[in-house]
Amino acid sequence: MERTERVVIGLGTVVMVLFFIAIFVLATGFGIDVPGCVTEMKPFERDTLFQTGDKRYELHVIARMWAYQMPPVEIPAGSVVDIYLTSGDVVHGFHIDYTNVNLMAVPGTVTYARARFPQPGEYPIICHEYCGIGHQQMMGVVRVVQP
Ligand code: CUA
Repeated sequence: MERTERVVIGLGTVVMVLFFIAIFVLATGFGIDVPGCVTEMKPFERDTLFQTGDKRYELHVIARMWAYQMPPVEIPAGSVVDIYLTSGDVVHGFHIDYTNVNLMAVPGTVTYARARFPQPGEYPIICHEYCGIGHQQMMGVVRVVQP
């Protein structure tokens, strides 16, 4: 083995050991950890739908294996809904058919989209991110009725 190879292997080993020590110290000495669950904080302690104005709504959704924790959504046609989404466990998807809504539900963070529902009807919601054995059962619906 050449001297240069031994130096590179030695340096690589030293850097790897330093990284492991840094991770160990950060994880145990400073209390640094993965982000806490947003679902335990306001306004995400529970799912909710509330009206913020004329045909304006705000919807809070928590995705969990393998269902959307959300209230029944029935709104009049022409409504605009601000959707705030988070996850209580793993990464999920959140796609509403016939709209521009295509979100990821990520633990520790909140994603947002504004959706318009011009026509009456049912707008299916599906999880489009593989999230485990029950992924294909993960769906919901937005019901839009005549005002
Ligand atoms: Cu949740 Cu797939």
